[in-house]
Amino acid sequence: MMTSTIHLHGSAVAFTDTAAQPTLVLLHAFPFDREMWLPQLKAFAGTTRVLAIDLPGFGASAPSQVTFTVESVADTVAKLLDAVTGTGQVVIGGLSMGGYVAMAFARRHSGRVAGLILADTRSEPDDAAARQGREKTIAQVTEVGASGIINQMLPKLLSDATRANRPDVVSTVLRIASRQTTEAVVAALLALRDRPDATTGLDTVTVPTLILVGEHDAITPPVVAAAMSTRIPGSRVVIIPGAGHLSNLENPDAFNAAVIEFLSTVDPAFPSVKT
Ligand code: MLT
Repeated sequence: MMTSTIHLHGSAVAFTDTAAQPTLVLLHAFPFDREMWLPQLKAFAGTTRVLAIDLPGFGASAPSQVTFTVESVADTVAKLLDAVTGTGQVVIGGLSMGGYVAMAFARRHSGRVAGLILADTRSEPDDAAARQGREKTIAQVTEVGASGIINQMLPKLLSDATRANRPDVVSTVLRIASRQTTEAVVAALLALRDRPDATTGLDTVTVPTLILVGEHDAITPPVVAAAMSTRIPGSRVVIIPGAGHLSNLENPDAFNAAVIEFLSTVDPAFPSVKT
């Protein structure tokens, strides 16, 4: 597994690359970084090339020199892929905010996409109440920093069972979120608030698509996943038992099994069994 940084238009972008073909790109949720994909990086190491990228300003990536929007981030991902893997196709997956970026990537760079994984995400934009909520969170983060808001987010991010029985997951979530900068968190909140409606674009997705959702996801519940699926021809929804919003961390075995099965249907070069 290789950890690396490249400079794109003067900004450092950090990523972890497990270097084996073909390639799965993973985009993290808000307000986290690529460490949230550790259970997947470990499970797929040696069999699948996984690029887990810190979005601009998060983790070890420098802030973007252009405004952080789901579109600009999708373009940064495309540039990173040009530099790291060449111009071939990849399977691109994202969880929640990462899913918004993955959808933007599929709209803007459709020729690069062999398959799409949308985890715990939605295609609709923020409604008025959600936009107001973003303003409130921006004010709070500006005052107390990312570590000051993550505790109150936990009940929405993790299922009751995870919070009660998985202190390791709780501490991972707190640790990753707490180290993000106020600047990155505010930039992302503005991008989340202003993101476009991706719903109509879903009709044009023609690649195999897997939609994953935690059984108890309180932010993007299974009903939202089902609605997205009706828009994407041939897509499949897999519900991750016991998990809330951060389904890849809460139930990695079920999450990974669904991804592995999906990848083998997209490209026979992906392994069909977990090794
Ligand atoms: C995330 O997990 O990335 C966030 O829930 C996205 C959002 O707040 O819209």
